[in-house]
Amino acid sequence: MTKDQRPTVGILLAAGDGKRMKSHQPKVLCQVLFKPMICWVRDACRAAGIERLYVVTGAGGQQIEQVVGPDCQYVCQSERLGTGHAVMTAREAILPDMDVAVLNGDAPFITPEALIQALAQHRAQGNKVTLLSAQVPDPTGYGRILRDPWGRVRAIVEQKDATMEQLAIREINSGAYWFDGAFLRKALEQLKPQNAQGEYYLTDTVGIAVSQGLPVGACLCEEDTVLGANSRGQLAQLNELARMRVIQRHWDNGVEIPWTDGVVIGPEVEIQADACILPGTILKGKTVIGAGAVIGPDSVLENAVIGENAKIKASYITDSSVGAGATVGPFTQLRPGSHLAEGVKVGDFVEIKNSTIGAKTSIAHLTYLGDCDVGSQCNFGCGVVTANYDGKEKFRTVIEDRAFIGCNTNLISPVHVGEGAYTAAGTTVDGDVPAGALSIGRVRQEIKENWSDEHIAFKKKENS
Ligand code: UD1
Ligand code: CA
Repeated sequence: MTKDQRPTVGILLAAGDGKRMKSHQPKVLCQVLFKPMICWVRDACRAAGIERLYVVTGAGGQQIEQVVGPDCQYVCQSERLGTGHAVMTAREAILPDMDVAVLNGDAPFITPEALIQALAQHRAQGNKVTLLSAQVPDPTGYGRILRDPWGRVRAIVEQKDATMEQLAIREINSGAYWFDGAFLRKALEQLKPQNAQGEYYLTDTVGIAVSQGLPVGACLCEEDTVLGANSRGQLAQLNELARMRVIQRHWDNGVEIPWTDGVVIGPEVEIQADACILPGTILKGKTVIGAGAVIGPDSVLENAVIGENAKIKASYITDSSVGAGATVGPFTQLRPGSHLAEGVKVGDFVEIKNSTIGAKTSIAHLTYLGDCDVGSQCNFGCGVVTANYDGKEKFRTVIEDRAFIGCNTNLISPVHVGEGAYTAAGTTVDGDVPAGALSIGRVRQEIKENWSDEHIAFKKKENS
């Protein structure tokens, strides 16, 4: 087998308890741009062609498994005895004829390019360990890389074990490495918890290789690639960095983001050129925004597909789609499964759930539509409500093209309103309305002449 054909495996360290985060959830699930840090690392490995991934989990392991998904293997490190011990827990993953990547689950910006470059260097130099390092302005908290006068890597020393002189070194260990499988298996057996933290340090494998005269290398990466988050403050810094990187990418693609205040765009969101994103807008998940659409201000969209030239103002949209040229808001909520065709108008205080709305239908104010199939060019007056739930089951409401639903209509589903039918204001529709018919179901108005004068006289007498 040539070196280039050696299989690879990745071991992701995720058993840390996040003491410094003061969180009840595992640290690696803390999110950068709405994506757990461990998922960033997983995706970088996959993009670098590392197919087999092992994740070392501790407390909260099941939570991690659920988030990271079934395509990885999971091993549990029951006691948190350090990064070296964590890798020992995953010993089954490490075979002699392999290149083994080990990565920290709390350093989300590792890139596939850096991993590929480091592997190429690892193989070309025949190293037993190749670590990914970086020069940073503030190395506080990281392990420092010790080199000899010829520039060769000699060891990694942790912050807590370093001398004053070593603390001044600004080349730091990223926590990502490539190992030769056979070497790693042997080196793990030689680790000893003799350090300030009483832990088995994975970083000691570098010194072990050097003491045995085995080749060790460092692949110097961009500073941003190696950043990790141990505290809430660092997590916020990573979020800000990631946020501005994504915004920069969209600017480069021709998206208009005139002010970045409160604009947060997830890494998987797609936006076409000439769309405009206004302040206070959060775009999450697999949201797609068409050309010329204007989103915001103050809108939150998750897994939303927005057509060209649509306008979304101060609204929440989740798992739903909006057609070209449609207008939504202000103050609309589209809950999951809502699909608005082109030119639909939805206005203030309208909530729509699990419904399809046909082209050019207008639902302008104060309306709740749940589980509806609405045709095109319908008009909804103010205050229409579907009663789609009887406490046990949900039913659908069908409204055909060009129907006119009067103000304050209640639609008790299941009910069917035919093409071009009308419902009178204040009607409670509890049976089907044929095409072209008018449904009127309300108490007939009664007029009592001179009632108010008599009423006032009566009240006066009562109070005297
Ligand atoms: C580690 C490195 C340090 C490097 C830094 C980069 C060691 C000894 N130190 O320090 O050189 O500069 O990362 O960010 O490796 N974990 C386990 N089990 C454990 C302990 C940790 O799975 O018993 C996991 C954590 O979840 C985390 C990763 O390993 O994802 C790193 O652990 P952490 O305690 O954050 O190490 P650092 O102090 O940051
Ligand atoms: Ca860390």
